[in-house]
Amino acid sequence: MKTAIAVDLYSDTVTRPTPAMRQFMCQAEVGDEQLGEDPTVNRLQAMVADLLGKEAALYLPSGTMCNQVAYAVHCQSGDEILMDKTAHPLHFEGGGPTPLKGILVRALDGERGVFTARQVQDALRAKNRYNPRSRLISIEQTANLGGGRCWSLASIHEICDIAHAHGLAVHMDGARLMNAVVATGVAARDYACPLDSLWLDLSKGLGAPVGAVLAGSHDFIQEAWRYKQLFGGAMRQAGIIAAAGIYALEHHVERLAEDHMHAKLLAEGLARIPGIGLRPHEVETNIILFDVAETALTGQQFVEHARNMYGVRFSQMGPTLVRAITHLGISRADIEYALQTVEQVTKTGPQSTIVPREIAFEQAY
Ligand SMILES: Cc1ncc(COP(=O)(O)O)c(C=O)c1O
Repeated sequence: MKTAIAVDLYSDTVTRPTPAMRQFMCQAEVGDEQLGEDPTVNRLQAMVADLLGKEAALYLPSGTMCNQVAYAVHCQSGDEILMDKTAHPLHFEGGGPTPLKGILVRALDGERGVFTARQVQDALRAKNRYNPRSRLISIEQTANLGGGRCWSLASIHEICDIAHAHGLAVHMDGARLMNAVVATGVAARDYACPLDSLWLDLSKGLGAPVGAVLAGSHDFIQEAWRYKQLFGGAMRQAGIIAAAGIYALEHHVERLAEDHMHAKLLAEGLARIPGIGLRPHEVETNIILFDVAETALTGQQFVEHARNMYGVRFSQMGPTLVRAITHLGISRADIEYALQTVEQVTKTGPQSTIVPREIAFEQAY
């Protein structure tokens, strides 16, 4: 049996534009974005540059493109980027920096997605004609495969100090930067201040259907434009979609606290279920990683049973590792239903003993 998805904890990328956001998008003024004539795109870029305290910003179709454009601007072919072993660009961006520009990526052995200045220091290559040139450090806020862990302001400064002292730049993949801002109370521009480039995603917890914005100095953004064009990211009347980003920044930032509260509730409930391994105190934002090794199920079986029997969608992140992400389509009742589901799945495997909910995801708003 395969039921409709009732509760979608797969990712915060599954959010759909709300009716109010759609309304706002319909009314957007538009122009030719490639020519710099789309007033809505220009407004969004100015908003993000201001939010992040940077000279300029550039609207791009995706977070992946933000990373790849930034890497291409910072690095030459044969240069090396240091990032955590769990970093998104290392696993989920098609190997981007290497095929796109011949850039090497070196993985650091961080702790839940966060590495130390000491690790950077130890990994820096001697400058000689044998070694690739260490050129860039890339950090991820929040660390996705680190279970939504936030980089502290102090560690960002330490990393930037050591990088800059050795002539390297520092880039932040800010896919969930605003989750960190809401969770820690640190302003986005404070996180951004020591960084050379960073971006934030509009299409995750912020709930826009598409788009991300990359920010940095005037010179950096001017060069980023070349790669936006080269990678096919230059658009035309993009104000229609950029409007969703403006709406999201104006209306969906503070509410991320609700997603964090739901994540905490889910984590605390999961920790009480026999066989589920997680440390609820490690849940800082909207991502929960848990281990099902102590149940009779593999990660795949767990995810399939929850999805197929009860309509609760998790994602499998390893042989026994499962991830849940809360977002604006998830209510407190959804969390309770998800917990009931996990209890049943771990107790009975594929045997259904609760009545599956048949609510389609769209109806949950
Ligand atoms: C940490 C992180 N970086 C980058 C991305 C890529 O963003 P996009 O899906 O907008 O390309 C994601 C997407 O899930 C992500 O989680």
